[in-house]
Amino acid sequence: MTYFSRAGINMVAGRQQQLVVGNTARVAIAIADKVSVATNTIEAVEPYPDSYQLTLARARREADQQTWPPVERTPMRVGKVLLLGFPIWGGDLPRPVATWLRQTQLSGVTIYPFCTHEGSRFGTSLTTIANLCPAATVGLGLPVRGNRVQQADAAVRHWLVDNGLLQSTN
Ligand SMILES: Cc1cc2nc3c(=O)[nH]c(=O)nc-3n(C[C@H](O)[C@H](O)[C@H](O)COP(=O)(O)O)c2cc1C
Repeated sequence: MTYFSRAGINMVAGRQQQLVVGNTARVAIAIADKVSVATNTIEAVEPYPDSYQLTLARARREADQQTWPPVERTPMRVGKVLLLGFPIWGGDLPRPVATWLRQTQLSGVTIYPFCTHEGSRFGTSLTTIANLCPAATVGLGLPVRGNRVQQADAAVRHWLVDNGLLQSTN
């Protein structure tokens, strides 16, 4: 499993809130609780600020210009199945995730995406993944609303079972 998540000030159900653990990280933890997978995080070399407004401004600029923000190159081995998590930013995936996808050899891999969002669900991110990883297969995704990550356990379980990653009796 590989995911990107930003702790800091965020909008949760229309209000600014300080998140100590990012929403996507919480879903990742719920997944890791059910299936045994190695977990890696995607880290921008230049971390995003704590401020929601400054993060929004930078994310907009990166999306408008379709930049490839450098990410930390942590050695990781991707198996045949990749659980890929990210928040939705500007209706798409955060650009550091795009950088990571471009830099990682994913041919023949089945990607099961999960995202957290405040209404956009996956937005255009699934198309972005397919475009960046033409030799990978994109499986069924799991979108979770940011303010419901604490109650996402059943949805996470169903998603894993539906994708054959967890036995339904577990
Ligand atoms: C820069 C930025 C842009 C966002 N854009 C969207 C968006 O277009 N649509 C949406 O539903 N939520 C949007 N959100 C809300 C996040 O997707 C949501 O809060 C998510 O759960 C954050 O995950 P994280 O805590 O793991 O980073 C945005 C949040 C940020 C910080």
